[in-house]
Amino acid sequence: MAASTMPHHLALLLLLLASPAATRLASAACASEKFPAGRAYATCEDLPKLGASLHWTYDASKNSLSVAFVAAPAAPGGWVAWGLNPTGEGMAGTQALVALAGSGSASPTVRTYNITGYVPLGKASTPLDFPATDLAADAAGSGGKIRVYGKLQLRKGMKAVNQVWQVGASATGGAPDKHAFQADNLNAKSKLVLAGKAAAEAPSPSPAPEAGGPATSSGGGAGSDSGAASSIAPSKLPNAAVAAAGVSAPALLVLALVGFLATV
Ligand SMILES: *[C@@H]1O[C@H](CO)[C@@H](O)[C@H](O)[C@H]1NC(C)=O
Repeated sequence: MAASTMPHHLALLLLLLASPAATRLASAACASEKFPAGRAYATCEDLPKLGASLHWTYDASKNSLSVAFVAAPAAPGGWVAWGLNPTGEGMAGTQALVALAGSGSASPTVRTYNITGYVPLGKASTPLDFPATDLAADAAGSGGKIRVYGKLQLRKGMKAVNQVWQVGASATGGAPDKHAFQADNLNAKSKLVLAGKAAAEAPSPSPAPEAGGPATSSGGGAGSDSGAASSIAPSKLPNAAVAAAGVSAPALLVLALVGFLATV
């Protein structure tokens, strides 16, 4: 009797053990993004809505934030947008980078918008409160995704700031048309934590002793060290994910064994 039920329990046990690992690893899907040479980011985060991700490096000594925002427009020929909102949680007040899909094989066009309210955006960029440089975009990778690149000059002392993102289906005369107002569109916002390490891995209970090591230990190296960043990013995220899964596995193992013993 017990012998015949054992395989089921073992299968259940394996499922229980496998699922948290699978969930954690899936949550770091952004880590598999392959950027062109010279573009590397210390951290990435899968944003909770619209299939988007943000990759970034924050240089605390210069208050500069280099980002790559990755998302697919709501339809071919549409647009993607990401921005920081230092004054609120919604669209109004957002300092946005917008990329409009190019026609055919043309590269996407990048615009910046200081979004002052819920009014249509024009076809001309407006200056941002966080001066933006190094603007670029490409349409690469799977699923028709557009990647917008830029560097924002933040204000001194910013630690966490609201971010909002959006995707639209079309543009008219070079200006992005209104996006859909589904729940996912309206909830495409979160907090970007600039200070402190491992912002994307907030629940991890085991921070490394050398917190902030990569950002501060390079000392005299004034350059943007993109080579170093590229070697950090791929190894760091999966390791963190595996470590997090390892922490929770023993607890699940105990639970699963209790369940097993109770039914034998
Ligand atoms: C952005 O818009 C706000 C609200 O209209 C304005 O106060 C601010 O000066 C604008 N920023 C820039 C850089 O133009």
